[in-house]
Amino acid sequence: MSSYEARFKVWRGDEQGGDLRDFAVEVNEGEVVLDIVHRIQATQAPDLAVRWNCKAGKCGSCSAEINGRPRLMCMTRMSVFDPAETVTITPLRAFPVVRDLVTDVGFNYQKAREVPAFVPPAGLGPGEYRMFQEDVDRSQEFRKCIECFLCQDTCHVVRDHEENKRAFAGPRFLMRVAELDMHPLDEAAETGLDRGRAAQDEHGLGYCNITKCCTEVCPEGIKITDNALIPLKERAVDRKYDPLVWLGSKIGRRTP
Ligand code: SF4
Ligand code: SF4
Ligand code: FES
Repeated sequence: MSSYEARFKVWRGDEQGGDLRDFAVEVNEGEVVLDIVHRIQATQAPDLAVRWNCKAGKCGSCSAEINGRPRLMCMTRMSVFDPAETVTITPLRAFPVVRDLVTDVGFNYQKAREVPAFVPPAGLGPGEYRMFQEDVDRSQEFRKCIECFLCQDTCHVVRDHEENKRAFAGPRFLMRVAELDMHPLDEAAETGLDRGRAAQDEHGLGYCNITKCCTEVCPEGIKITDNALIPLKERAVDRKYDPLVWLGSKIGRRTP
C-alpha cells in the first residue's frame, strides 16, 4: 500500500487540561509518526506544538506516547500499525504538559545536576588514562544515551506517583551513577563519596524493583536494568554488609 488515509487522535491542550482531537491524514510509504504530525501542522492545525530536531533518532527531542507506549515519533514507522487502526499520540505522561505534545522535562535536568561528576585520577593528564577494553565498553554502552527520557517516563515509580519524584532519580540517572561507580579511574571514593551508598540514600535506588520496563523502551537498546541497575544494587549491598569490600575495591583497582 503506497498511500492511504489513516485516522489519528492527537492530544491537544495545556497545563489546564485538554483532550484528544480527531484527524484524518494521508500516509505515504516509508513515513514515520513525526511525518504525520508535521502533515497535521501543515494542513490542519498550524499551531500544534511538537518538539523535534534531528528526525534521525539522535537528539532525543521527539519523545511522546503512541498508542500508550513511550516512543520516539521520528523512529516509529507507520508500517507497524494496521492501516485501519486509529493511532493515538499523547504527550509523555510522567512530565507536566507545556502545550499539546510538548512536556516540561526539567525534572530530568534537576536529577542530572544531583549526580556528582567524574573525579579525575590525580597525577594523570588527559590522554594518559589507561583502562581495560571491557571497562571502556561498559561506559560506551551507557554513553549511547540520547536523553530522550523515555525510560524516565515509563518507570512506574514516577509515572503514577508524582510524590516519588523528589526521592527517585529514575533509570537514566541511576545508570549514570552506576557508570561512575564502576569506572576504574573515578576517584570519588578518595574524596569521601561512596557512590553506591549515595545511589541508595540520595537517588532512590531502593525504589527500583527491576521490572525492566525502562530497558524495553530505550531506543538505543541500552540494557539499563541488567547492566547498570542490577550491578549497582549488588555493589551497594556488598558494601552495606562488608565495608571492606568497598574499601578493597578502591585500593585494589585494576590498572592495565
Ligand atoms: S527496572 Fe527499575 S528503573 Fe527500570 S522501570 Fe523498572 S523500577 Fe523503574
Ligand atoms: S537510557 Fe535510553 S531511554 Fe533512557 S534517556 Fe537514555 S536513550 Fe532514552
Ligand atoms: S527528532 Fe531527534 S530523536 Fe526524534
